[in-house]
Amino acid sequence: MIIDSVSSIFGQIKVPGDKSISHRAVMFGALAKGTTVIENFLESADCLSTIRCFSNLGISVENDPQKGHVLVHGNGLNGLHAPANSLDVGNSGTTMRLIAGILCGQPFDSILTGDASIVRRPMNRIIQPLTQMGGNINSQLENGCAPLLIKKTNSSLHGICYHSPVASAQVKSCILLAGMYAEGKTSVIEPYISRNHTELMLRQFGAEITCENTTVTITPNPILTACKIQVPGDISSAAYFIAAAAILPNSELVIEEVGVNPTRDGILKVCEKMGVNYQLEEVNQEGGEVFCNIRVHSSKMHGCVIEGEMIPTLIDELPVIAVMACFAEGETIIRDAKELKVKESNRIDAVVNFLSEMGADISATEDGMKIVGGSSLHGITMQSQKDHRIAMSAAVAGLAAKGSTNILDADCVTISYPSFFQDLSRLCH
Ligand code: S3P
Repeated sequence: MIIDSVSSIFGQIKVPGDKSISHRAVMFGALAKGTTVIENFLESADCLSTIRCFSNLGISVENDPQKGHVLVHGNGLNGLHAPANSLDVGNSGTTMRLIAGILCGQPFDSILTGDASIVRRPMNRIIQPLTQMGGNINSQLENGCAPLLIKKTNSSLHGICYHSPVASAQVKSCILLAGMYAEGKTSVIEPYISRNHTELMLRQFGAEITCENTTVTITPNPILTACKIQVPGDISSAAYFIAAAAILPNSELVIEEVGVNPTRDGILKVCEKMGVNYQLEEVNQEGGEVFCNIRVHSSKMHGCVIEGEMIPTLIDELPVIAVMACFAEGETIIRDAKELKVKESNRIDAVVNFLSEMGADISATEDGMKIVGGSSLHGITMQSQKDHRIAMSAAVAGLAAKGSTNILDADCVTISYPSFFQDLSRLCH
């Protein structure tokens, strides 16, 4: 994909549905009684992997993109069937980690596998707590990674109180989902609050979940009842447009119906810190999820420090925040973000490599990066490493760089945002 420099970005855009919420709507719909209707479901490779896995577990899912909604015909908490083959999650960490929690509570064996990236990502973070709960789950190659072998156990799982060493919604959700099949309550305590879509949506389906500070507790054996899920626009996809509008001169964008759940809105807090001129308009709420339109103008930005409890609220946006920091005055420091190393690629190395090659003053640190804004960027040929968020961040940098930027393996954007490049080119001038 060739990205040429543009002078501004202008207009209105409705980004596709939220990836985290789309995954969960299919999963919880599958475990509920009745038909769950998902509006604005994200038709991307990752979410289609979740549908495929549940189809292989005997759940009927009607996905007709023409009709604009997905129907999940749930079979109840104990209504999944043994899959005929290994379950393939593709590139999707959310699919693998959340389904693992569900599968540990099933009376059948299963194998979870996926693509070259997912089989390198750490799974001990779920293997350990699930084992503590009495689950029988192992890394097939004994390297702490997928493929994961999950075996049925003679006795049911038991609830635990788990102190998670990482603030990860995938780990938290995995344990809570296993907790639905356990005897006794299950609690997860996180170092910082991670995205809470599981808590909000499971409650909508009828589960009993309490949250106190960074502790979430689930009562087992809930009766989940089908419902209608309205998926808001994905703030992680909106982030590329927010960044492009802030960076490029004479720009103004309205990004419509974006989910701004406070456990996800760190990018907006960073915009505030950096002096980005933006407004939230038409704020609404459905199913506990807040959404609104975001209006962004070209801005004179300054650097800032991004750390601590903010990190889980913007973890997926850090690559594009690094791009914004290249166009801000002064220094931006990102710390406490080691998790970036174990995403779809090592996102600290990936970002530092392509931005420094483009001429930015950026260096990797042990748990983040340091960027000094103000150097002018030039186009390069870069390898996305098949990481969708790296490809889209490079595209934003490319719009503001001199010359052309060639993104290799750019089709990886299908993971979260299949029409990204078309949408971007429509708005650029
Ligand atoms: C996600 C949680 C985050 C995020 C990922 C989606 C989720 O991962 O990076 O893209 O849907 O729960 P971690 O929980 O591993 O931080």
